[in-house]
Amino acid sequence: MELEGKSAFLTGAATGIGRAVAELFAREGANVYVADINEEAGKLAETEIRALGLSVTFVRVDVTDEASVRDGLAQVGSEAGRLDCAVNCAAVTVQGARNRTGDVDVQTFDEILSVDLRGLFLSVKYEILQMGETGGSIVNVSSGSGVVGTRWNPSYVAAKHGVVGLSKAAALDYADKGIRVNTLVPGVTETPILAGIPKSVRDEIETQIPMRRLARPLEIANGALWLCSDRSSYVTGSMLIIDGGFTAQ
Ligand SMILES: NC(=O)c1ccc[n+]([C@@H]2O[C@H](COP(=O)([O-])OP(=O)(O)OC[C@H]3O[C@@H](n4cnc5c(N)ncnc54)[C@H](O)[C@@H]3O)[C@@H](O)[C@H]2O)c1
Repeated sequence: MELEGKSAFLTGAATGIGRAVAELFAREGANVYVADINEEAGKLAETEIRALGLSVTFVRVDVTDEASVRDGLAQVGSEAGRLDCAVNCAAVTVQGARNRTGDVDVQTFDEILSVDLRGLFLSVKYEILQMGETGGSIVNVSSGSGVVGTRWNPSYVAAKHGVVGLSKAAALDYADKGIRVNTLVPGVTETPILAGIPKSVRDEIETQIPMRRLARPLEIANGALWLCSDRSSYVTGSMLIIDGGFTAQ
């Protein structure tokens, strides 16, 4: 049990990678909070994980709303008494993404940045305040599009590069305060975020991945577990890339 007795706040954990993190962390002994805007999927995740006899609570949180993020973390503080781990997965992207930079309207750019970067900043800020003197580990989920440029989605690429920078800045601010902050970089992973992508584009993506397949959510969640466990006790301001070799090319 890598996370016995620890509490974990996971944004965007109702579905996909975050859902896999929630179940894995709960199996490893954590008291898990699934913080997501999607109430239906969040409650379903809570029901399914509780049915395994594990400790999980759904909290409705909209990461674009400062009060919502603050209140979600205050609930963890009052119920669990402390926050040890946080994994920030909440994000949106443009579906069917054939959006070149000149085609993107400013409203779309603002919407993506408000969830994927501003929302992540708010999450990190209140997670740090909740961890306070007791310390902890924060994992921010970026993307291959946060490490190298990818076509047709400039808002997402900009936000995900911002996640890498914000993580390094926060890591330095708290390196001597017992709070570690790292970035997790998944490659293309089988989750609902891919729902709008046509099969022909998916096939094309697979041919570009050295391992010739998409990641499974659990393969990404395993990285989050390592970054939140004491096994990574000297790791901060770092980036863990799990992408089948994509960004090595
Ligand atoms: N799936 C991939 O191929 C892939 C690749 C690289 C990086 N990522 C990143 O992994 C993370 C998880 O993505 P996923 O693939 O599991 O997608 P997903 O769509 O299954 O999960 C995203 C979650 O974020 C939640 N969310 C969206 N807006 C929110 C808001 N305002 N407040 C709170 N929650 C909100 C959604 O309800 C959803 O549960 C994201 O940061 C994504 O950018 C995914």
